[in-house]
Amino acid sequence: MSSTTTVSTTSTGTEPATIRMPRYHTSLVENRAFVPPKDFEFPAGLKQVPINPQGPTEVPVQTALDYSKDDIPEPLGPYEHVDCASRADPEKRALLSAIPKHKDMTPNIGTEVWGLQLSQLTNQQKNELAPWAAERGVLVFRGQDFVDQGREWLKEYGSYFGRLHVHQWGVHPKDTPELTVVFRDSDKGSYFDNQKEGQLNTVAWHTDMSYEINPPCTTFLSSLAGPECGGDTLYLNAMTAYDRLSPVMQKFLETLEALHSGTRQNLLSGKTNLARRPGIDTVHPVIRKHPVTGRKAIWVNPEYTTKIIGMRKPESDMLLNFLFDHLHKGLDFQTRVAWEDGTVVVYDNRMVQHSVTLDYGLGNGVKRHLVRVTPQGETPSLS
Ligand SMILES: [Fe+2]
Repeated sequence: MSSTTTVSTTSTGTEPATIRMPRYHTSLVENRAFVPPKDFEFPAGLKQVPINPQGPTEVPVQTALDYSKDDIPEPLGPYEHVDCASRADPEKRALLSAIPKHKDMTPNIGTEVWGLQLSQLTNQQKNELAPWAAERGVLVFRGQDFVDQGREWLKEYGSYFGRLHVHQWGVHPKDTPELTVVFRDSDKGSYFDNQKEGQLNTVAWHTDMSYEINPPCTTFLSSLAGPECGGDTLYLNAMTAYDRLSPVMQKFLETLEALHSGTRQNLLSGKTNLARRPGIDTVHPVIRKHPVTGRKAIWVNPEYTTKIIGMRKPESDMLLNFLFDHLHKGLDFQTRVAWEDGTVVVYDNRMVQHSVTLDYGLGNGVKRHLVRVTPQGETPSLS
């Protein structure tokens, strides 16, 4: 069984802002044949696409089946994040001097790096990696032995950057809920196919789990396997998107808060995944500031942000749609990453948005597997 507790927070709008904090976890029953609860409402335009009942072909995964009620980590209450970037040399000399070759992918976002193993970084270099990822948005490290270090090592490594996020339903390697497995490898599709059913394209811009009280910060996404061609990840720079706005609009947006919904994500996943705990809905500022670089970024995304607090629905829809349109049309502050064996992408979830492209066909053994290490950052704020 599950239940939630409602906690009041501040809000600039007329509606009370709330954070619904999980207190108990859902009962953990095998969910091969999902039976919707009585109040289940599948979003219009979407329909069930069952997951491969055998699971991915190469990554050993279980979902909530690995848990008993007593050993589920409950990591998602508020936590005090101190970003390791605050200990960095602003010049990043320890890190940059160790890199034989790097090249910006575009002027506004993305840098590709060769010849340095992330696994070998000193703590000082990690301190400098975090602000570099924040400034460039996306760092693409090629030829890495990162995932070869093993699950325990990945957990320890990621924990240096923040408390590791445990997804509310995401698949993870067996006994390691602190790592998230991203996969699509059967001809029956996945959560992503659920989302895109009935749509004209597969793009779904978001920041990972923006509905959490402490959304992710410096994030590591590592490729395990991918299609011969396709399955790229798109990234956009939400700091540049903020900078492009007029001062009048910037000032207005800085007075606003928006609701981010994890319950909606649970609904989308509900027919194909196992619920680990109830999703939460959380109010965050529409503009947030990086705690170390001081850069501001637009902090609403179409996957999880459902409304502006205090606005009537048409007003909220109009403003959100304007911001989404601005973010997503800005090809001059976007880039895309084509995955290779050994690619690790380090991105700052606070400052960029991203989307997978499901432009490749399934069947004949085609698969796309990645592992994500997802440290949680500070609660978004403008200060
Ligand atoms: Fe994502």
